[in-house]
Amino acid sequence: MRHNPEFSGDYAHRPVLWREVLDFVSRSSIGGEGLMIDATLGEGGHSELLLVAFPGISIIAFERDPDILDVARVRLKKFGERIQFINDNFSRMASYLAAKEGQVGHMLFDFGISSFHYEKSGRGFAYSVDERLDMRLDGFSGHDAEHIVNTYREKELADLIYRYGEERWSRRIAAAICREREKNPIRTTSALAELVLKAIPARFHVRNIHPATRVFQALRIEVNDELGSIRTAMKDFWRFMAPGGRMIAISFHSLEDRIVKDAFRRLARGCVCDSEMKHCRCLNEPFIKILTKKPVMAGMEELQENSRSRSAKMRACERLSGGVPSGI
Ligand SMILES: C[S@@+](CC[C@H](N)C(=O)[O-])C[C@H]1O[C@@H](n2cnc3c(N)ncnc32)[C@H](O)[C@@H]1O
Repeated sequence: MRHNPEFSGDYAHRPVLWREVLDFVSRSSIGGEGLMIDATLGEGGHSELLLVAFPGISIIAFERDPDILDVARVRLKKFGERIQFINDNFSRMASYLAAKEGQVGHMLFDFGISSFHYEKSGRGFAYSVDERLDMRLDGFSGHDAEHIVNTYREKELADLIYRYGEERWSRRIAAAICREREKNPIRTTSALAELVLKAIPARFHVRNIHPATRVFQALRIEVNDELGSIRTAMKDFWRFMAPGGRMIAISFHSLEDRIVKDAFRRLARGCVCDSEMKHCRCLNEPFIKILTKKPVMAGMEELQENSRSRSAKMRACERLSGGVPSGI
């Protein structure tokens, strides 16, 4: 099925892997019908596309950030009651979808943050705009980035910059942060970006990538416990899927992709044991079929129209028929 959607004009950024998302939905046995969950609504790009392409679907959309949710509400108003909005973390979907077990036709996760966050949120996601170091997606709960930068121990900082930022200079950067904050607390994006720039030897700066990029990514992931939310959702999502329904997850970070991949493997074996457990105790039948042996990546056409799609990896699975497994 070939789709040629009209993207609404005010939203410059096309949703990542949109052709592949539409194809996975249209080729399922459920087709473009029934209830869909958009777990990461953002500015509503994927949702708009799906609501236009499939007049038979309705959507329940989760979004953690109330500001971007307002943008999506305006954009998607024309679809009336076909879309319902929930301003909450997708990790809490079980508390909203209790009555929908086995009824969801499709589910989409498009992890990370949106260009809105870098360009318009005012919450310090980008090193290129001088703002206070906040980075909280919901804007109010938990510790912000300023707290982390100014209070974590040097080793904790180095570890998180290494793990979530995959930054080889993590120890030098953490040491530089700790030296600086003894003199002055680090409160702004530009203060942090400048400090990182100086901490990495100039000959190791990569052209076209600011040295602080990875540090900012690491802080954002830590501030919002992004991987914890994904882990919880990957444990829960299958309960809501109808047989034949498809779940699609788009990752931008190797750690996100690993969580999805591991969850798919376990569910394809039928295992619902806690991921920390070494041996499976539930011994269920296979519960999903994996549709993507390898992750799907953007093709040439998309790479040319959307540079953000470069690091996107999509995995998809299909719910098999069968009862609710034991062990839950
Ligand atoms: C990459 S954007 C999604 C873009 C969207 N698919 C589109 O086409 O416009 C990811 C969105 O998910 C939101 N988000 C991230 N983690 C979330 C979570 N745990 N629960 C709910 N929303 C989340 C972010 O605030 C962001 O708006």
